[in-house]
Amino acid sequence: MTISGKATLAGVMGWPIGHSRSPRLHGYWLEQYGIDGAYVPLAVPPDRIEQAIRALPALGFRGCNVTVPHKEAACRTVDRLDATAKRMGAVNTIVVGENGSLEGRNTDGFGFIENLRSGAPGWKAADGPALVIGAGGAARAVVASLLDEGAPRVWLVNRTRARADELAADIGGAIETADWVSRETLLEGAALVVNTTTQGMAGQPPLELNLRALPGSAVVTDIVYTPLMTPLLTAAQARGNRVVDGVGMLLHQARPGFAAWFGREPEVTEGLKAAVLQG
Ligand code: ATR
Repeated sequence: MTISGKATLAGVMGWPIGHSRSPRLHGYWLEQYGIDGAYVPLAVPPDRIEQAIRALPALGFRGCNVTVPHKEAACRTVDRLDATAKRMGAVNTIVVGENGSLEGRNTDGFGFIENLRSGAPGWKAADGPALVIGAGGAARAVVASLLDEGAPRVWLVNRTRARADELAADIGGAIETADWVSRETLLEGAALVVNTTTQGMAGQPPLELNLRALPGSAVVTDIVYTPLMTPLLTAAQARGNRVVDGVGMLLHQARPGFAAWFGREPEVTEGLKAAVLQG
């Protein structure tokens, strides 16, 4: 592939970055829409992240995505934050303004909600309480977006209870934390179950969660997407619950950045999903 001298530039900063599926994702859209642009992986070590972000306008970049471990550092480096990034304390999308200023956004929660909306048509956060398992960085966006979308309550359980308590204190609102051992009891009143832990990922043991008490109407989703059908989703589907796999969160969180940099609202399609999951 040749990049023209006029190409609109964006990319993704991470460390390491080789595993990122974002270049494939944005590359698919660029090709699909015939846009003269490039989206490149940028391997930036932690001690260089501020310098790299600051250099975006000088290099002619329209912006970039930011991934592990830079989301918090990006939050401290940009000139302005949108409300969601401010609340998360983390930035995953940077947009360079006309005057070269840097705006930090966080689209992870948007991606999470859009994935549920398209994967479980008719689902609404307001349908009932959500049980969120895990309290890492991804859980923050999940919990905040559910509350913003009208979930009446979020129950949050994490192996290390203190992390769940800290997340609840940071985000505020109708979050109740509970001990790890209570997770199966909480299923009884849940309209949505979300696994945000690494359990169930290829090479990891499955998340230990007996779904016996879960109502048949509840939706189950996992933010893990390798494999697409985790043991949790397989078990939920077998007992008749609607399930939504995690790759859509990655696909949908990318939409606002692409639209801002390349000037076109992109679509999430089966073709895109297949291209991103390939290899
Ligand atoms: P991220 O920021 O991407 O969400 P993370 O901060 O490493 O990743 O969080 C991983 C989540 O998986 C945490 O909730 C973690 O629980 P702890 O806070 O107790 O570490 C959870 N997790 C990892 N291994 C686990 C295991 N064996 N059993 C249960 N939860 C686990």
